[in-house]
Amino acid sequence: MRISVIGCGYLGAVHAACMAKLGHEVVGIDVDGQKVLELSAARAPFYEPGLDELLREVQETGRLSFTTEMSAAAGSQVQFICVGTPQKKGENGADMTYVDAAISALLPHLAPGVVVVGKSTVPVGTAARLAELVEHQEPTAHAVWNPEFLREGHAVSDTLRPDRLVYGVTDGSEDHPAVAILDEVYAESLAAGTQRLVTDHPTAELVKAAANSFLATKISFINAMAEVCEASGADVTRLADAIGMDDRIGRKFLNAGIGFGGGCLPKDIRAFMARAGELGADQALTFLREVDAINMRRRTRVVEITRELCGGSLLGKRITVLGAAFKPESDDVRDSPALSIAAQLQLQGAIVTVSDPKALANAVRRFPELQYEPDLEKAVRRADALLLLTEWQLYRDLDPFELAGLVASPRILDGRNVLEAPKWRAAGWTYRGMGRP
Ligand code: UGA
Repeated sequence: MRISVIGCGYLGAVHAACMAKLGHEVVGIDVDGQKVLELSAARAPFYEPGLDELLREVQETGRLSFTTEMSAAAGSQVQFICVGTPQKKGENGADMTYVDAAISALLPHLAPGVVVVGKSTVPVGTAARLAELVEHQEPTAHAVWNPEFLREGHAVSDTLRPDRLVYGVTDGSEDHPAVAILDEVYAESLAAGTQRLVTDHPTAELVKAAANSFLATKISFINAMAEVCEASGADVTRLADAIGMDDRIGRKFLNAGIGFGGGCLPKDIRAFMARAGELGADQALTFLREVDAINMRRRTRVVEITRELCGGSLLGKRITVLGAAFKPESDDVRDSPALSIAAQLQLQGAIVTVSDPKALANAVRRFPELQYEPDLEKAVRRADALLLLTEWQLYRDLDPFELAGLVASPRILDGRNVLEAPKWRAAGWTYRGMGRP
């Protein structure tokens, strides 16, 4: 099939490459000329495992191209909208500028029978609004909401083999003509057993908001337990192991630590609360305010523990932060808890050095006032304390005996609870975890 993918960021670039891998003829369209140039040269404009290789593989087939020209969308049977919906400045709601701009630019190029498929995370009600615009322009065209559930760091495999596909169509019916077209787009995943659900527009939009809210709640739940563990001397990692054995609860997303960040969970729960407020259902989501508050408290807690680790004062202490990305296997630093903690420590008088295997270029752009050192050995040399804040494998594999010889004082805060505390203590380190004695 001929497919356009509008917006080539973390979502769209991966989606375009994966659609081409599934055998479709794909054009990726983005307003950012530099991004288009990179992608056209088969280089991912951000770090995502496997994406460079995939881009090279599919571009050799001639099935994938990139452009800044919206007119290239003409002739595609399916038009995917993959642009960003960041948080509005100074407000909780989602900024819909990019979605609205993409749709208005696309409208003149719609041909009879095309399917416009929204993948961006949007406030409920958006699909119905866009469907009106689409049908007004081209009465035989359809608007579908098909939320995306990929995780950064696993984006390629999540797109090629999703755990479910949700199609939100106007009447919520299996017989809607767009359903058969999307089934053709995703034929390979469906044949491999991916579950597929057809819903109406608002349900499909809410599936995404609800899924991310649930994940955020799970993380904040275990971080709330970490606070109680800290107050009572219990160990939150053992607690999570034990409650996670109940398969109604499950162990996944119960890792207590410095909390969640990134371009999705924080802004999605806020946009969801804002939208519920507009709909008069704000009470239903007031708990998300608490989820957000628990999450933000973790960052303050890290600063407090670091102060304790450093003997009561941060002034003039050399702190090395290991990790800048919001999670490992990504160079994304949007709302990264690691960077926000690094900045707070520096504000409180510490001399902070940040290291990360992939995210330093992005980190410098966000927090130019921090000091960065890509070389791990140089970064930790003469440190008064180390903070492991993004659990890259490189940091999980650190040898506490070797490292003890490099730092000024062997003190470490394991912000993600991924190190073996007894091993570090045996090597002479003062070890602190999050929610652990
Ligand atoms: C999240 C969702 O997991 C995806 O399903 C969704 O498609 C995506 O948002 C999106 O809306 O686009 P992502 O932001 O890539 O994906 O990252 P996650 O793996 O969900 O991690 C989010 C944050 O939670 C990270 O900062 C991570 O370190 C933190 N986290 C995760 C914890 O603190 N504890 C855990 O147990 C799990």
